[in-house]
Amino acid sequence: MDKNQGVVGFQVKLFEDLVLVWHGDGPAPRQVIHRGRTFHRFMDIFFVSHLELDELSLEEVVALCRARESYSSSIGQANESVKGLFRRAVAKVTPERVVEIGAGARPLYDGRGESFDYIALDADMEAMSKLSSRKESFCARNGELDLPAASVDIVVAVFVFQFRIYDIQIKEISRILKRDGILLVNVYRRSEESRARLASDLESSGLHVQRVNDPQELCCDHEYWVASKSQTSVCEFRDVLCSQF
Ligand SMILES: C[S@@+](CC[C@H](N)C(=O)[O-])C[C@H]1O[C@@H](n2cnc3c(N)ncnc32)[C@H](O)[C@@H]1O
Repeated sequence: MDKNQGVVGFQVKLFEDLVLVWHGDGPAPRQVIHRGRTFHRFMDIFFVSHLELDELSLEEVVALCRARESYSSSIGQANESVKGLFRRAVAKVTPERVVEIGAGARPLYDGRGESFDYIALDADMEAMSKLSSRKESFCARNGELDLPAASVDIVVAVFVFQFRIYDIQIKEISRILKRDGILLVNVYRRSEESRARLASDLESSGLHVQRVNDPQELCCDHEYWVASKSQTSVCEFRDVLCSQF
C-alpha cells in the first residue's frame, strides 16, 4: 500500500467524533482510512473529511479548530505574523469600531487597551469563553449581529476564510460596514475556483475585492484580501497593508 494512504486505526484518535488526530510514530501520512472512511491531512497531525476546507460542515470546522487549540503546539509562527501585520495596518487608519470574525481563543485584541470599540465574533462561543471583550455568536444559523447598519470601520478575520463563509454572513458583513469600511482577511488552502466563488459572493454583496499575494509566503498560496463598498477605500487600504509588510 502507498505509504501516504494507510489503514491506521490504532495510530489515530477521534476528536469530538469528527476529526482525527495522528498519534502514530513518525510523520502522518497524507490520507488515512478510518472505519471505512477516507480522511485528508490538514496541517501536521489533523485529518478531516474533505481536502477542500470550505466543504467541511460547520460542526467539523468547530471540532477541527478545537482540536487545534487542544494541541496548541500546532499553532505556528505564520499565525502570529498575520496578526502582527493586521494590527499594524489597522492602527494606521485609527478606526472607531473593529469587529473580528472567528476570533476564537486567540483574538487580535483583548477589548481593553484599544482606542476603538472591539467586538469578537465566532461560530463557536465556547472557543471565546475566556475572552473578556464584547463577543457575539456569528454563523450560518446566527447570521444577524446586534450592530447597526454602516457602523463598523474594519471587519477582520485571521485564518478563518479558508473555511466556508455563508451567504448570510457575507450579507451581514456588508450591512455593518460603513461606506468606506474595510474587510481584511487572509485566504489560503482554497482552490482557484473556490477563491473565485468567494470573491464573486463578496462582490454580489456590494463589496469591491482586491487580492494581494503574500510576499513572505507565510503558507502555501497565501493571499491577503481587502474589500470595501468604496473602490477608493480598497485601494487606499491595500497600500496601507502593503506598506506594513
Ligand atoms: C483556525 S481558527 C483561528 C482563530 C483565531 N482567529 C486565530 O488566528 O488564532 C478559526 C476560527 O474561526 C471560527 N470559524 C470558522 N468558520 C467560521 C464562520 N463561517 N463563521 C464564524 N466563525 C468561524 C472557528 O470556530 C475558529 O474559532
